[in-house]
Amino acid sequence: MENFKTTRKNFIKASALIGIGSLTLGAKASSFLSEPNLNAPLILPQTDGKFTLPALPYAYNALEPFIDAQTMEIHHTKHHQAYINKLNEAITLESTLQGKSLEDLLLGLSAVPEKVRSMVRNHGGGHWNHSFFWKSMKLGTQMGTKFSTLATSSFGSIDQFKANFEKVSMGVFGSGWAWVVLQDKQLKIMTSANQDNPLMDANKDNKRVPIILFGIDLWEHAYYLKHKNKRADYVSNFWNVVNWDEIEILLK
Ligand SMILES: [Fe+2]
Repeated sequence: MENFKTTRKNFIKASALIGIGSLTLGAKASSFLSEPNLNAPLILPQTDGKFTLPALPYAYNALEPFIDAQTMEIHHTKHHQAYINKLNEAITLESTLQGKSLEDLLLGLSAVPEKVRSMVRNHGGGHWNHSFFWKSMKLGTQMGTKFSTLATSSFGSIDQFKANFEKVSMGVFGSGWAWVVLQDKQLKIMTSANQDNPLMDANKDNKRVPIILFGIDLWEHAYYLKHKNKRADYVSNFWNVVNWDEIEILLK
């Protein structure tokens, strides 16, 4: 396993650009393999032609009692690992993808050869989403002033922001994710189906790229052992494990 590698420097640059409302990436889809990533808050490189499972930044029981240790261990060692295994199969099938970071692949997804594009989308998305998810959680942190100021200006109040996030999360049909992103100086709540995320094809057509601050995994495997069919309990408990310290860093 390898440690997470964050793109702190790049993220500062991206945030600064967002601050003046002008972040559009110049990379064309056809050049996705060589353009630098300005937006990705997390870079997952290949090592010797393969992606590997990042170590959790805490013990499996570190998020108890809100997320149980058994769920965390299975989620990390089985589900996350399975996405990586399938992603590596895609890399093996398409040699032009070898050596590229996962962010390169996702930001320019439509330029990935069609024969492996779905594999990269589903399993590459799974690898990125879970790697980012682990970093987004920590017990005992408090919402910082940068985020609370943004939440209040974007949603009217912290309570309204949280209510909106919970409502949106409950509205995701089937398996997917809800995300909190910074875009146009505003916090926005986005959703994605399956293992999609806001990075996918963000380089295409010079679209404005959102800064992902955190997301919640809404697949049943994330909560079923503890909460069974009660997604609402999992979502409302999630506030206890959001890593607000990490979010303040992302907003600097
Ligand atoms: Fe998951």
